[in-house]
Amino acid sequence: MVPSLAVEVAGIQFPNPFMLSSAPPTTTPEMIGRAFEAGWGGAVIKTLAYDLDLVRNVDPRIHGVHLEGRVIGFSNIELGSNRPVDLWIEDIRRLKKQYPDNVPLASLLHTEGLVREQWIEVAGRCSEAGIDGLELNFSCSHGMAEGGGGAVVGGSPELIRRVLGWVREATEKPVFVKLPAGIENLPQKAQAAEQSGASAISAINTLNCLPGIDIYTFAPYPSVAGKGAFGGLSGTAIKPIGLRCVAQIAQHVQIPISGIGGIGTWQDAVEYFLVGASTVQVCSAVMRAGYRIVEDLSEGLLDYMEKMGFREINDFVGLALKNIVKHNLLSRDYKLVSTVNLDTCTRCGLCAIVCRDGAYQAIELDEDRVPVIDQKQCEGCGLCVQICPVPDCMRLQEKQT
Ligand SMILES: Cc1cc2nc3c(=O)[nH]c(=O)nc-3n(C[C@H](O)[C@H](O)[C@H](O)COP(=O)(O)O)c2cc1C
Repeated sequence: MVPSLAVEVAGIQFPNPFMLSSAPPTTTPEMIGRAFEAGWGGAVIKTLAYDLDLVRNVDPRIHGVHLEGRVIGFSNIELGSNRPVDLWIEDIRRLKKQYPDNVPLASLLHTEGLVREQWIEVAGRCSEAGIDGLELNFSCSHGMAEGGGGAVVGGSPELIRRVLGWVREATEKPVFVKLPAGIENLPQKAQAAEQSGASAISAINTLNCLPGIDIYTFAPYPSVAGKGAFGGLSGTAIKPIGLRCVAQIAQHVQIPISGIGGIGTWQDAVEYFLVGASTVQVCSAVMRAGYRIVEDLSEGLLDYMEKMGFREINDFVGLALKNIVKHNLLSRDYKLVSTVNLDTCTRCGLCAIVCRDGAYQAIELDEDRVPVIDQKQCEGCGLCVQICPVPDCMRLQEKQT
């Protein structure tokens, strides 16, 4: 039987679990329409702004994070949508008419201070226009947070309850609460959202960062006429944090989770499903390579499901959670030792260098630069395996006692 990518979340039918997160790829309805046509199941509209004066952007506002010459993520100091709410209300109606099977969500709300009437008005109007659901941006780590919104709300159970309560006064539509990563006791915040009427949790948003400094002019990046501000880090670098957050949330709430953070391949998406997400959202990977990546995401995921015998996404949501335990429950009897495949070893000597200076001095090079591993000295830490540039050349195997 051919597996199905369709998934139901909080009563919403998604044609597939791949969504665009609220960000530049969802800046206009025209872009969202193109994304739906390319194969994205859902899209969270760029966070709506109540007052456009609050979202006057600076130039430049995006700075690439590079690894070996490739952009692997961004730091941004962008604000909310600069399209008026009035226009978006019409756009939502049109989008739903044109793409009835796809799922637009509206991200609320870039506003100064927390004003009940503003949340109620915008949540109500989006709902009446036919939006499938709302996502509350309680997680922007810059800009909004400076004004007491975004991550400041996500960091406080009391504020989460208050604002979610207002939104619930205005709508019965599914409400996703987007939580930040950089807060203490994330499960407590997720539980506050669940108890106050959230239908799902989205996590994570960008992480507050300073991507760099021009060492000759002393200007922070991105430099706005020589000045900079703390920005939000996204992309590959934040995937381990996103996975941790989704796993932690899944361990503490029953409502569905939309996983976000550094997703660029179908394997990344599968990892998020395995720790409890049932949809995933993507921003940076699309900003790097365009909407077309959804083809690889969908094909790869379908192949994986077929190979694993999964018929639908929910067959494997959360399957890895039981393997994530407290550190003190990890086995102390499982002992490993490094081995090297001399057929593929290039004699580069890197394993010996890092073992000597960053680990346990268990690898030496003989006169032909062949690594020789001292089984007694090796602690099985795994550093050499991670550093070796040749795939599968160094491995860990169980220590014979
Ligand atoms: C330039 C830029 C602008 C963003 N704007 C918003 C926004 O308006 N609202 C929001 O909730 N998240 C915003 N985000 C955060 C993304 O939606 C997403 O949570 C984050 O980038 C992590 O996903 P990624 O690693 O796939 O990029 C923005 C991200 C970037 C890079």
